Amino acid sequence: MDLIIKQLNTTLHDRKSFDCGLDELNIFLKQHANQNQSKNMSKTYVAVVAVSADDHKKIYGYYTLSAGHIECDQLPESFKSKLPRYPIPIARIGRLAVDKNYKGQGIGGFLLHDALTNVLNIADKLGVYAVVVDAKNDDAKSFYGNYGFTELQDSKLTLFLPVDTIKSAV
Ligand SMILES: CC(C)(COP(=O)(O)OP(=O)(O)OC[C@H]1O[C@@H](n2cnc3c(N)ncnc32)[C@H](O)[C@@H]1OP(=O)(O)O)[C@@H](O)C(=O)NCCC(=O)NCCS
Repeated sequence: MDLIIKQLNTTLHDRKSFDCGLDELNIFLKQHANQNQSKNMSKTYVAVVAVSADDHKKIYGYYTLSAGHIECDQLPESFKSKLPRYPIPIARIGRLAVDKNYKGQGIGGFLLHDALTNVLNIADKLGVYAVVVDAKNDDAKSFYGNYGFTELQDSKLTLFLPVDTIKSAV
């Protein structure tokens, strides 16, 4: 299945049939993603098939991106010592989910790769120290761990990956 990733467009993309198995993430896509996008609170990107008009409507997975900051003290000691004591600018992947009927087919990895590529492009023009993700549970934490994300000091489920590390991996 050839997927492409597009910014959410509610006239083209069908949010109603999406089910990743977690109510919180389903409800966000159905009820809040569009509002948040139009208010510039977060942008939502969806994985769709572009082969036919019908396929184009189905959402196979999505992620959200927004700007944020963390406190320097939230970083592990080895990172903290090299940084000023100001709030640290970050890009946040607030949510990332794949429809439960299509898990294990590489879509989550494809979405994450696209999110990191988007952040790298933004980070050329705007200071972004790291990508931060809010893993919803230990399963999601292991998924992100595969890509090098590690824990912030104050939360076992909030993970980060420095932009420099992403740059050196591409
Ligand atoms: C976590 C989730 C996004 C993974 O999506 P997916 O499409 O099934 O993942 P992929 O098929 O792209 O797998 C990518 C890699 O992660 C690994 N992986 C997938 N799910 C994993 C999990 N739960 N734990 C550990 N590793 C996992 C795969 O083995 C694969 O590794 P490989 O490239 O070495 O083979 C998906 O299961 C999901 O939507 N879960 C519910 C929502 C959620 O928890 N979202 C994350 C927090 S917001």
